[in-house]
Amino acid sequence: MMPATIDETRQTILDHLWQLLVRGGADRRSPLHTPVVSSITEAGAPDARVMVLRKAEPALARLRFHTDARSPKCPQLHGRPVCVLGYHAQENIQLRLHGQAQVEQDTDAATAAWSASTLFARRCYLAQYPPGTALEAPASGLPAEVEGQQPTPEQIAPARPNFAVLHIEVQSIDWLHLANTGHRRCRFTREGEGWAAQWTAP
Ligand SMILES: Cc1cc2nc3c(=O)[nH]c(=O)nc-3n(C[C@H](O)[C@H](O)[C@H](O)COP(=O)(O)O)c2cc1C
Repeated sequence: MMPATIDETRQTILDHLWQLLVRGGADRRSPLHTPVVSSITEAGAPDARVMVLRKAEPALARLRFHTDARSPKCPQLHGRPVCVLGYHAQENIQLRLHGQAQVEQDTDAATAAWSASTLFARRCYLAQYPPGTALEAPASGLPAEVEGQQPTPEQIAPARPNFAVLHIEVQSIDWLHLANTGHRRCRFTREGEGWAAQWTAP
């Protein structure tokens, strides 16, 4: 399919919002570093949680997150539609991204992401119980020998099966810019390798 074309104003907005997302994936101080990822539970109820955006790839219209493969959100998200919500307070920009989720546990991409993570970041995947397991008392679930300290590569190795990558193929982006001079809103829709853009009422 031929790439869709959009006018310069909206192309600038699209480029800028992707820049913010790229920054969100790279800079822990960015407000887009911790967007909300939503899902629908098996019972059909909405659910949402904050997740760290690990990488945004504008050319592929793709986002990457990391999670515990045992978490209930994995089956809720895998192969399903998803909404990711972020608000950049300094820029007064809300981004609502809709797309398709893919949870990968056993792929080269997941292994590469695992290897690129710090030992501290990987430590939470050593938790003995899947996220959401009922506990007798408050606890991290981490083995005592790594609680409060960085695990060794040998200690972390058994945690690898608990690690998964969540890829989101972005299909549309609802951009909302708040301004005293007039709010602006635009919906960008992926068309082939390009984007179509539609101004909408804020
Ligand atoms: C600042 C912040 C960052 C978080 N980052 C992640 C993350 O990158 N991956 C993840 O699975 N959970 C992350 N969480 C925890 C989730 O919000 C959630 O509590 C956990 O994943 C269990 O959710 P679930 O029951 O929907 O699986 C983060 C929470 C906070 C507050």
